[in-house]
Amino acid sequence: MNTKRILTTAIAATTCMMTMNAQPKLSPTNIDEVLKAMTLEEKAKLLVGGANNFFGDQAVVGGEADLVAGAAGTSPAIPRLGIPATVLTDGPAGVRIDPTRKGTDKTYYATGFPIGTCLASTWNTELVGKVGEAIGNETKEYRCDVILGPGMNLHRNPLCGRNFEYYSEDPLLTGKIGAAYINGVQSQGAGVSAKHFAVNSQETNRTGVDEQLSQRAARELYLRSFEIAVRESQPWTIMSSYNQINGQYSMGNRDLLTSILRDDWGFKGIVMTDWIGIRKGLETITEVQAGNDLMEPGQPAQVKEIIDGVNSGKLDIKDVDRNVRRMLEYIVKTPSFKQYPASNAPDFKAHAAITRQTACEGIVLLKNGPHPASPKGGERLTLPLQLEGAGGGYTVALFGENSYDFLSGGTGSGCVHTPYVVDMVEGLKNAGISTSKTLTDIYRKYIEYARVKFQAERHPANWFQQEMFGQQKYPEAAFSPIAIGKEVREADAAIVTIGRQAGEGADRDIATEFNLVDTERQLIADVCKAFHAANKPVIVIINSGSVIETASWRDDPDAIICAWQPGEEGGNSMADILTGKVNPSGRLTMTWPIAATDHPSTEGYANPVATPHHEDIYVGYRYFDTFNKEVAYPFGFGLSYTTFEFSKPKVKTSGKQVTVQVTVKNTGTVAGKEVAQVYVTAPKGSIEKPAYELKAFAKTRELQPGEQQTLTMQIPVRMLASFDEAGSQWLTEAGQYTFRIGASSRDIRCTATAKVGRYTEKTTNALAPKAKLNLLKQ
Ligand code: BGC
Repeated sequence: MNTKRILTTAIAATTCMMTMNAQPKLSPTNIDEVLKAMTLEEKAKLLVGGANNFFGDQAVVGGEADLVAGAAGTSPAIPRLGIPATVLTDGPAGVRIDPTRKGTDKTYYATGFPIGTCLASTWNTELVGKVGEAIGNETKEYRCDVILGPGMNLHRNPLCGRNFEYYSEDPLLTGKIGAAYINGVQSQGAGVSAKHFAVNSQETNRTGVDEQLSQRAARELYLRSFEIAVRESQPWTIMSSYNQINGQYSMGNRDLLTSILRDDWGFKGIVMTDWIGIRKGLETITEVQAGNDLMEPGQPAQVKEIIDGVNSGKLDIKDVDRNVRRMLEYIVKTPSFKQYPASNAPDFKAHAAITRQTACEGIVLLKNGPHPASPKGGERLTLPLQLEGAGGGYTVALFGENSYDFLSGGTGSGCVHTPYVVDMVEGLKNAGISTSKTLTDIYRKYIEYARVKFQAERHPANWFQQEMFGQQKYPEAAFSPIAIGKEVREADAAIVTIGRQAGEGADRDIATEFNLVDTERQLIADVCKAFHAANKPVIVIINSGSVIETASWRDDPDAIICAWQPGEEGGNSMADILTGKVNPSGRLTMTWPIAATDHPSTEGYANPVATPHHEDIYVGYRYFDTFNKEVAYPFGFGLSYTTFEFSKPKVKTSGKQVTVQVTVKNTGTVAGKEVAQVYVTAPKGSIEKPAYELKAFAKTRELQPGEQQTLTMQIPVRMLASFDEAGSQWLTEAGQYTFRIGASSRDIRCTATAKVGRYTEKTTNALAPKAKLNLLKQ
C-alpha cells in the first residue's frame, strides 16, 4: 500500500466515524444538525419530563430529580449533544420551591406576590408587568427556567377552588393582565407556562370531567383570554389542561393544540401537559400527534411508548421531529442553556416593595359609610381612619382569626413558601396603630390550638391540606357580648377579618365557604352592635381568594374592604389603605352575586362526569347585566377616597382600529387613580349578543385634586367580533356601536357612538359539541 493510499483510507475511516458519532453541541444556529444527530431514544426522551417525585423513583427519566428541590419538574438533559435539563417551577404567585434543603442552613424562600385575582383587580397592566419582571428574576436567580403560570382560566363560577389563581370572569381583562405578566417574566430571560389550556373551570374531578360547551362560548370566552396572551406576549410554553372539552382530552386534542393555538393564533412555543403522566384512555402517542411537546411530569413508560410507536409505524417520525425541534428551540432560550449563574439570592427588599404596592392597588373598597360619630347627614366617612386627635394613640380591636394569620395566598401548587407574612397586628403597628392585647393573646393561643387539632384530624388523603401546600383556614372563634363589650372601652374602632381559603383539587361549597357561617355572622353582628352603641366604627376585611356572600350582612359594618390574598406584605398593604396612605383604586374583576345560586352555572356545577355550559356566553356580567339581575357588587366596581368626573368621550374609527379617548378629572380632595372601563353595545345583527362587553380599559396615573388625564384606548375591529359558528369565523357586523365608558359595568358615566364596517376572519372549525346543548337565550 503506498503512502497516498494509506492516507486516503485513514481520512475515509475518520470521516465515517465522525458521521456515526456525530456529536454537535446544541446552539441556536445548529438545531437542524442536532436534530439529525439524535437517536430515536434521545428524541423520545426529550419529549418526556425528566424528574418528579409524584410517581416515586420510577419517574426519574433523566436523573435530574433534585436539580432544584421542590420545583415541579424538568425537561431532561442529553449531555452528549449539549442539551441541558431545564427546570419548571410553580407558580403563579411566586417561585414555589422547597424553602430548605438537606445539608445546608441556607434558606430558599421566595417572595409571595398577590394572587392572580388581586393582580387583575389593579387593572394596571404596567404594574402587573413589574410583578412579572420580579417573578422572572426570582425564577432565574433560583436556577429555574420556567414559571408555571399565569393561570388564565376564567371565573366561570365563584365556587371554583382555583379562582384565586385566575384573573377574572372576563376574557379581555384576563388576556391583557396575563400578557402583561408574561411580558414581564420573559423580559428577564425566563419563561412562563400559561395554564390550563383550556376550559379548566372546575376542580372536581378535573382530570376526567367533560366540559361541554358551544364553539362560540369556547372561542369568545375560554379561549379568548389565551388568544390575547399568545398574540400579545408569545409565551414560551403553554400547559394543556387535564379536563376534556366536548368529549376529548385537551392534552391529546390536535384541533386545540395545533389548529387553534398554532395555525389560527400563531403560537411559536412548546405545549406541555399538566402533571398527570400516563392517563387512562389517552395514549402518549396521541398527545405527541396533537402537538403536545413535553409530557409532564414524565414516566419511562412514555419514552418507550414513543419509541415503540415509531418502530411499529403507529407514530410518524415527522411528528416526533417537529416536537423535538420545538423543544430545542425552547431550550436554547433558557437560562439553563445560557448557563446563567443563579445567585439563589433575589432582591427580596425590592420585590417586597412591589408586592406591597401591587396589593394596595388590587385591594377593593366595597363600602365606606358615614362614621358613626359623625353628625346626622354623615359628612365624615369611616375611612380613611382619622388617627389624629385620638389622645393616647389609635387603638383597634382586631377580631377574626385571619387578622392574626393573614392569608397571603391560596393552597396547592399555587402556594408560595414566603419568608414571612405581615399580619394585621404587625401591619397596623408599622402604621402607628395599636391593637388590643387581650384579643391578640386569645387569638394567638386559639390559632395554635386550632392548628394542632386540624393536623390531628386531617384525613391522610387530603394532601393539599398540609402546611407545605399553603396556609390553612381554621374555624372562627366565638366571642360573647361581654368579651366584645370590654374591647369597646379600649378601642377607637373594630376590624373583623373574614377569611376564606381554597385551592387546587377541590371546589368550594356554598354553605360554609361561599356563605358566612353562623359564628362569623354572629361575630359581625355582635361587634357592630357593641361598637355602634359607643359611636365607634366597624370595618370588615375580606381575606379571600374569591367571592363570598355579602348581601345578608353588608348593612351592619360601616366599611368593607376586600383584601383578597395580597401576598406576604398583606398587613402593610391593608394599613396603607386603612390610613389613607394609599387611596384604593382596585376594581372587581368579577360580579359579586347576591347568592351563589344566582349564577346560572351554579346548577349542575362541579358535576364530576360532565359539566354542560347551558349558560353559554352568559358568564358573569354578560349574564347579570343582560338579564337585569340584581347583584351585590357589579363587575368593575370599587370605591375611592376621592371622586372622578369623565368628559364626553371621542370615538374615531379608522381602518381596522377604533380609538376611544376620554378625560378623567379628580374632582375630590385627595389624590387617587381611576379606571376607565369601555363597554361596547353592538348593533342588532344576525347573532344574539350580551347587553355589552368590556372591550378596553385604562387606568390613570395618580391624579392630584383638580388634575386630569386624557386616556387613549385602542380597540381593534376584530375584537368587536362575535363568533359565528355557522361560518366558522369571527364576525363584526356593520352598524352603529355604542361605547359606554364608566367606573363599573353598572356605573356608566358617558357614551359615544361610532359606525363600524363589517369584518370577518376565518378560523378552523374545531371543538364542536358532540350533542346539541340546551343553551340560554335572551
Ligand atoms: C396543577 C398545575 C401545576 C402542576 C405542577 C398540577 O396539578 O394543575 O397548575 O403547575 O400540578 O405542580
